[in-house]
Amino acid sequence: MRVVEAFRAAFGADPATVWRAPGRVNLIGEHTDYNDGFVLPFAVPWGVTAAVSPRDDQTIRLLSLQAPSPEPLVLAARDDARGWTRYVVGVLAMLGDRVRGADIAVDGDVPQGAGLSSSAALEVSVASALNELHGLGMTPMEVALLGQRAENDFVGMPCGIMDQAASALCREGHALFLDCRTLGSRNVPLDLAAHGLRILIIDTRVHHEHAGGEYAKRRAECESAARTLGVDALRDVTDLGAALARLRGEERKRVEHVVTESHRVEAVVGLLRAGRPAEIGALLNASHLSLRDKYEVSSPELDVAVEAAVRGGARGARMTGGGFGGSAIALVAEDRLDTVRQAVSSAYEERSWQPPRFLPATPAPGAHPLT
Ligand code: GLA
Repeated sequence: MRVVEAFRAAFGADPATVWRAPGRVNLIGEHTDYNDGFVLPFAVPWGVTAAVSPRDDQTIRLLSLQAPSPEPLVLAARDDARGWTRYVVGVLAMLGDRVRGADIAVDGDVPQGAGLSSSAALEVSVASALNELHGLGMTPMEVALLGQRAENDFVGMPCGIMDQAASALCREGHALFLDCRTLGSRNVPLDLAAHGLRILIIDTRVHHEHAGGEYAKRRAECESAARTLGVDALRDVTDLGAALARLRGEERKRVEHVVTESHRVEAVVGLLRAGRPAEIGALLNASHLSLRDKYEVSSPELDVAVEAAVRGGARGARMTGGGFGGSAIALVAEDRLDTVRQAVSSAYEERSWQPPRFLPATPAPGAHPLT
C-alpha cells in the first residue's frame, strides 16, 4: 500500500495501524441533519486511507500524499494547524488528554471540491485509527460525533452529523437511514443494479466561495424559526400549515423545506424497502425544487445539471450536499446513461461552462481497518 510505504519513508518505521474511511453522497434529506430530522446518505468508493502510530510526546507529524511537499509537517502546537491539517489536529484536540502526539500519513482519492465530504473521510479515518490504538472503545457513532466536534469546534464549520455518520457507519450496497435526533440508524439495501438503475454523480466542478457563510446563515434561520415556533428543533413541527402561518419571509421558506424534506426521506425509505427504487425519482426532483426555491442553496450549474439530466431521461435528479456548487445526483436506467451524460455535457457546452465530471456511485463500505 503506497500510504504505508510513504509512512515508512517519512517516519522510519511501519505504522501501528491503517484505516480507510469513505466520502459520501446523500440520496435525500438535505439540510435536515442539524434540524434533528432524517437523512439517507451512502458511502462512495473514494475516501481517505490513514496510516497512524502513536507518539509519547505532544508532537504531531503529518504527511499527505496529495500535498505538494514530500516532507512531513511537524506541528509542535495544535494552534499551528492550517488548511487540511486542521481536520486531523481537530480530532486530536477533541480527544484531549486521552492521546498525546501521533505520526500520521494520509492518502485521499475523494474528488476535491465535488462536495463528497473528503473532510469527513479524513476525520473519521484518523479518529478510527486513534480509537483502536488507544483502546478508547468508541462506537462508530461516537467516532462520527468526535469528527463532527472537530469540525464544529476546531475548524469552525457548523456542520451536522450526516457526513461523519455516513463515513463511519455505512455498509456496502446500502444507504444509511439516520435519525439525527436519536442517532438511531438502519442500513437500507440499495441494490439499484438489480433494477437496471444507477446513480450518476454529476460534479459541476464549481464551488462557490460564500458556501460556508450561507450554510451558517441557513442554520441560524432554522434555529430562529424553531424558537419562534416554541419547539426544540424543526423536527418537532407536526402541523406544517399552522407553523407556516406563524412565520414570514425567509424563515417560512426554510421551514417548509426542512419539514417536507424529512417526509421525503421517509417516503424514499419506504419505496426502497418495498423494492420499488425506480419510483423514488419524483421525490428526488421535488427535493431539488425545494432546495432551489425554498432553501435557496442551489446554483445555476446545479440547476442546469438537474434539468438536463431529467430532460435526457433520468428518472429523477437533485443537488446533493450543502449546495452552492459541488455535485448533483441523477437516478438513471442503465441504458440511458450515455444519453443523460450527453444531455448534461451539451447543456454545459452551450453555456461555455467547463465540462462537468461524471462519476458512477456504487454504495461502498464505511470506515474499516486495512491491517
Ligand atoms: C453539509 C454538512 C452536513 C449537512 C449537509 C446538508 O454536507 O456537512 O452536515 O448539513 O451539508 O444536508
